[in-house]
Amino acid sequence: MTAPVSNGIPVSVRKLRKSYGSHVVLESLSLEIAAGELFVMMGPSGSGKSVFLRHLIGLEEPDSGEIEVAGQRVSSEVVESPHRLAMVFQTGGLLNSLTVEENVGLYLREHRLKPPAEITRVVAEKLSLVQLGVEDGAKYPAELSGGMRKRVAIARALVVEPQLILYDEPTSELDPLVALTIGREIVNLNRRMGATTVVVTHDRDLAFGIADRIAFLAEGRLLALGTPAEVRQSSEPLIQRFLAAEFK
Ligand SMILES: Nc1ncnc2c1ncn2[C@@H]1O[C@H](COP(=O)(O)OP(=O)(O)OP(=O)(O)O)[C@@H](O)[C@H]1O
Ligand SMILES: [Mg+2]
Repeated sequence: MTAPVSNGIPVSVRKLRKSYGSHVVLESLSLEIAAGELFVMMGPSGSGKSVFLRHLIGLEEPDSGEIEVAGQRVSSEVVESPHRLAMVFQTGGLLNSLTVEENVGLYLREHRLKPPAEITRVVAEKLSLVQLGVEDGAKYPAELSGGMRKRVAIARALVVEPQLILYDEPTSELDPLVALTIGREIVNLNRRMGATTVVVTHDRDLAFGIADRIAFLAEGRLLALGTPAEVRQSSEPLIQRFLAAEFK
């Protein structure tokens, strides 16, 4: 099987600010993510990680500031991105009434992007990329373990051959061993496909296990941004408390 080639694209965020009513969620967030990088945003629950991710694909409109993907401004007003973006949602978002195969192939079928035989081939290829077999394709989401459901959600995101792939809490509700294998999958896919990868998580082991760089978000501000070793050495008390697992 030939690995699909997808060139990652850079992301640039400048002075992003977002509030809901009087609640300021993101203060003035600036960061650059390089093409092909595996970038992790870590931070406590409620710190604004999911809100940040939603901005990258235009699901949210900033109060101010700019987001560019491959040099093009992202806005909720632009319906179709010229780039191939994919998001693995925190809840997986699989349709329970459809089989694994149908879930993974749904986008291609609905948009009539490929003939049926080709869709079958692509679906099998994406399932095998996340270590699922053809026999799993006939199952329904309810018949799968939590880890398998995450894998299906990832396979579904891969059908667009993403240049930028976003994962929201990919290890939530998984036991530590399964979380570890999902982390490895994310790294493997990043290295094989070259897509720029952004993971948001409050899973410390995942963040430090997979990231090229980590941004630590708390109360809408970046407290640290650097390699895992640099972030680990941060003198910020909040980061040290978080790393000591004093809270989630
Ligand atoms: N649509 C919305 N309307 C109002 N407030 C919102 C909305 N979306 C998010 N928020 C608020 O923004 C804050 C950050 O939410 P967000 O979901 O980004 O947190 P998070 O870091 O992803 O947390 P978790 O780790 O629990 O997933 C929270 O206080 C949340 O209540
Ligand atoms: Mg979240």
